[in-house]
Amino acid sequence: LARQGQGATAPNPAVGAVLVKAGRIIGEGFHRGPGQPHAEAVALDDARARGEDPRGASLFVSLEPCCHEGGGKRTPPCAQRVVAEGVAEVFAAVADPNPRVAGRGMALLHSAGVKVHWGPCEAEAQELISDFAVWVTARRPFVTLKWAQSLDGETTGVGSPWVTGPEARAHGHELRAAHDAVAVGAGTLRIDDPQLTVRHAPLGPGGTPRRLVFAGAQGLPAQAHVFTDDQRHLTWVVANPRGPVGDQAQRLTPGRVVPWDGQDLQALGEALLAAGFYRVFVEGGPRLLGFFLRQGWWDKVALFTAPSFLRPQAPEGEAVSLVQPQWSTWGRDSLVEGWNPASPSRTSSPPKEFACSPV
Ligand SMILES: NC(=O)c1ccc[n+]([C@@H]2O[C@H](COP(=O)([O-])OP(=O)(O)OC[C@H]3O[C@@H](n4cnc5c(N)ncnc54)[C@H](OP(=O)(O)O)[C@@H]3O)[C@@H](O)[C@H]2O)c1
Repeated sequence: LARQGQGATAPNPAVGAVLVKAGRIIGEGFHRGPGQPHAEAVALDDARARGEDPRGASLFVSLEPCCHEGGGKRTPPCAQRVVAEGVAEVFAAVADPNPRVAGRGMALLHSAGVKVHWGPCEAEAQELISDFAVWVTARRPFVTLKWAQSLDGETTGVGSPWVTGPEARAHGHELRAAHDAVAVGAGTLRIDDPQLTVRHAPLGPGGTPRRLVFAGAQGLPAQAHVFTDDQRHLTWVVANPRGPVGDQAQRLTPGRVVPWDGQDLQALGEALLAAGFYRVFVEGGPRLLGFFLRQGWWDKVALFTAPSFLRPQAPEGEAVSLVQPQWSTWGRDSLVEGWNPASPSRTSSPPKEFACSPV
């Protein structure tokens, strides 16, 4: 249930809830987004709509019920409602990492006589709120770093910007769809001019991700796809408002510039959250990825590896792709085995007169 809201709930977490009574589900629901009722309230309303009585029921919820009001919060606290409805016990998969809740929701329920339990499905629930945990504790977006490289660690294709094949690239679009922004550095824009749209995968509940360009000192290519195509209103630029590129960014993406001096990461985190960037998918290039890696400003990595050597020491210097690559994992390591297309073992064929006749 929680997954149905994932990608649309920011700045709130994705949460699902099920009410069970006498071994039957009597109500269920998930949080759809800011300003909408929380999962517990949806499940309780669902039970009422079905003509069921939540009194004495057990509530299974993927995140501890909230207990606080105010501070910009638009919905009433759930723990109080759960008590008022006479729910007998609550199973919450994980505690709310929001410092304003952090166990207080369950404590409130317990002191009101509701039986409380942590779990089940703690690991899955922790993953569901991983983005929310970053927003409320570190005050920055959840950041996924994605890149594609060859076996020799190269990130630029030979004769094409692509390192990986069509299937990997289509999966890359699925990963884009699970974020609310796709980010690149100005270098990638100048060299590759990518579209950064979701074309080979369905959109997630959050809709089309925005595009976010990290501008530096050298200026932005005004003719790039992201500034000229029919989705240009979805392109934002991170730029220093006091530099010449800041002025250019303001002209290219008026009202869609995230101001950043290039130094203060805390300020960058706050500015991105303020502009509604909660789940950012950083797709390169190497310099921008290196920056995020060095700063420890990342939460997840998606690294595609192609079974090829892009800059081999071969005389002609051409790319070489392994034939019949086989990937396997050994403990925490992965092994790729594959054939050199130029290996004599692959190229020698028996003389025609000894070839077997077809059966
Ligand atoms: N294999 C892959 O997954 C992949 C993905 C993307 C790109 N690429 C390849 O990468 C190459 C481009 O590499 P790149 O490293 O030059 O591009 P990049 O990382 O996209 O851009 C670097 C530029 O971004 C600007 N920038 C702004 N804030 C920055 C920060 N905090 N840290 C670092 N840079 C910041 C700077 O612009 P200024 O120069 O204006 O100061 C910097 O020079 C292309 O050839 C492309 O094909 C590969």
